[in-house]
Amino acid sequence: MEIPEKRKPTRNLALDLVRVTEAGALGAGRFMGRGNKEEADAAAVDAMRLVLKTVDMDGIIVIGEGEKDEAPMLYNGERVGNGNYPDVDVAVDPIDGTRPLAYGRLNAIATVAVAPRETMFDPGPFVYMHKIAVGPAAKGKIDIDAPVIDNLKAVAKALGKKIADLTAVVLDRPRHENLIAEIRNAGARLRQIPDGDVAAALMTCLPDTGIDILIGIGGTPEGVLATCALHAMGGEIQGKLYARDERELALGREAGYDFEKVLTMTDLVASDDVFFAATGITDGELMKGVKYFSNTARTESLVVSGLTGSVRWITATHRWDILNGISSLEY
Ligand code: FBP
Repeated sequence: MEIPEKRKPTRNLALDLVRVTEAGALGAGRFMGRGNKEEADAAAVDAMRLVLKTVDMDGIIVIGEGEKDEAPMLYNGERVGNGNYPDVDVAVDPIDGTRPLAYGRLNAIATVAVAPRETMFDPGPFVYMHKIAVGPAAKGKIDIDAPVIDNLKAVAKALGKKIADLTAVVLDRPRHENLIAEIRNAGARLRQIPDGDVAAALMTCLPDTGIDILIGIGGTPEGVLATCALHAMGGEIQGKLYARDERELALGREAGYDFEKVLTMTDLVASDDVFFAATGITDGELMKGVKYFSNTARTESLVVSGLTGSVRWITATHRWDILNGISSLEY
């Protein structure tokens, strides 16, 4: 479908979207360490939805909290924004890292991204995909179908490093046993993270983090969100749907999904005109988590815009009396 010129995104919507992730983080941050993932998620969803209503856009959630029947809010297909142009697809992960948040651990973030209407990959019910992601210097050098050692060699060469000085990040999961062995055998350094591969993908584009490549199987929604950010930050991500068992594979094939197809950045999000915002909920390597004071709270966020490639770090102080006005949450 051709989108009329005047309905295409042009403003830096990410600067509006950051208010959405700030609200989500402020709401969810209260639940740090309480051991209840559902409560924390509901708080983030409530807060984000309220602020999303105020954003100048006509958005349809492509990546959300699941189907309408299971998710009362921010469900796939839900319309968000105030209905004004631009027409956009929306990806939202109110908490990437519900477990770390519920157990008071590091690196939980609230994220949202938008791209022009009908440009985001809709993974349907298929929740996992293989991923490989790198920063700008190694863009064009990776191949998700190639052996791990070849990718590590190519990235090391592109970065002008020895493999021994290259750092790969992998989700710490039993399914990655072979992958981890391959990385170790190749002689690269390895970071195993308990959760949060959106932040890990972004880190490949930020040399100070010391992360050079993300590899492994993680969430498909998180893959689409990370793609929006990587489009803007000049990195590259490739994906491939992953079926957990034969039943899922058969279901997927029946629905027309190809589990052998390499999903390029364009397949995942077919536009550079993307906006991405993330706010720290718990302290993390990219952003500090929410700090609550007597009358205020402070958030740290990352905001990126695809067309300009701008990357902004935003620290904001929020007054509770104002927040009480925009939210049904009791701050
Ligand atoms: P949620 O907090 O949204 O559940 O995701 C956390 C996360 O670690 C993602 O960053 C990652 O993509 C996914 O879970 C991996 O899934 P699993 O924990 O099932 O291996």
